[in-house]
Amino acid sequence: MDCRICGGTVTEFLDLGRQPSANRFVPPGRAAEEPLFPLAVGACGGCTMVQLTTEVPRELKYHDEYPYRASGSALHREHFARAARDLLRTELTGPDPFVVEVGCNDGVMLGTIADAGVRHLGVDPAAEVAALAAARGVRVLTDWFEARTAAAVRAVHGPADVVFGANTICHLPYLGSVLAGVDTLLTADGVFVFEEPYLGTIVERTAFDQIYDEHVFYFTVRSVRELARRFGFELVDVAPTPLHGGELRYTLARPGRRRPSPAVEQWLDRERATGLAHPRTVERFAEAVRRVRTDLVATLERLAAEGRRVVGYGAPGKSTTVTNYCGIGPALLPFICDSTPAKQGRVVPGARIPIAPPEAFRAPYPDFALLFAWNHAEEIMAKERDFAERGGRWIVYVPRVQVL
Ligand code: TYD
Ligand code: ZN
Repeated sequence: MDCRICGGTVTEFLDLGRQPSANRFVPPGRAAEEPLFPLAVGACGGCTMVQLTTEVPRELKYHDEYPYRASGSALHREHFARAARDLLRTELTGPDPFVVEVGCNDGVMLGTIADAGVRHLGVDPAAEVAALAAARGVRVLTDWFEARTAAAVRAVHGPADVVFGANTICHLPYLGSVLAGVDTLLTADGVFVFEEPYLGTIVERTAFDQIYDEHVFYFTVRSVRELARRFGFELVDVAPTPLHGGELRYTLARPGRRRPSPAVEQWLDRERATGLAHPRTVERFAEAVRRVRTDLVATLERLAAEGRRVVGYGAPGKSTTVTNYCGIGPALLPFICDSTPAKQGRVVPGARIPIAPPEAFRAPYPDFALLFAWNHAEEIMAKERDFAERGGRWIVYVPRVQVL
């Protein structure tokens, strides 16, 4: 296929089979209607951008009942409150600053901006979650962010000092339109700040569960620098963040308006040294992924044969990839508990494993718990200390299958 950024040739390196849309948690009765799509990733020989080879229509993904809640963990709440305070202190300092967020979800970031009385607008197409943001005082436009919406926002609200996105920019296959929109919206010295899953982390930790239909792109500093250049921006800063196992936050500005931080070159050097996005690196990653599948299925089958009770903990979008790729269904995992009300009483797409509220975890405790929400391990293990104290064991599969 042709690269969505530069038109170069994309060579596939990992095929995760036919999969449903990862966050389409449906009631058990509606499970049969689920459409499946090929899930595979490849790297562009031109601009190096790693991307999905097939696209799921956006209306299927970000529908009104889209269940993801960014405020679902203390880690996320604290991180985004800090991100908002940082923007207020460093960028939103003029007389009447304005910030636009691409995909504001439940207002986890803009809530803090709204509390500070600063002008803002969240643009998010998912009605239920956008209503949660509105309920906490965040101004929301229920729509997709692209060139068209950006022009409409500018016409009504004027230019923005900051356009922000978190785990949303890699979701948008039409990045050319997104960056044209950012160009329309930003003031001369404004910045576009976004934090997204990092291919370096995914490869290093064999975190293949980050690969699902919503994540169209798997950024590297090199591919983002190239993306910025192609669409008239300059990458001026890169910084690590702790979410989703380790992401990167990128800052883009208009060319020549900001002095690039030394971090940009440092990250590029590191990527060169590790050969990230090199065919050999991604092929080795694909092998490691297949090994995780073999080991995880073998572990669950062995425990089932021994008559042990195993349940899942956390049903992130990531769990859809893992269960469907590994062929894990209710026979190996009778249910998964998750704290998100919008997921409870529904089933994991494709795998059809029922999702129960967290109380089901201790009624009674299972012998083993497969931790899908591994990026929240610290918070969850602290909350469920009693499980381990009573002899319960955690099973993790990142960076490899281990029974803790
Ligand atoms: P997350 O990793 O944020 O999302 P995704 O992979 O979909 O981008 O999702 C974490 C999931 O784990 C979310 O569905 C909520 C759930 N969860 C719990 O059930 N209990 C907890 O204590 C925490 C922190 C999360
Ligand atoms: Zn390309």
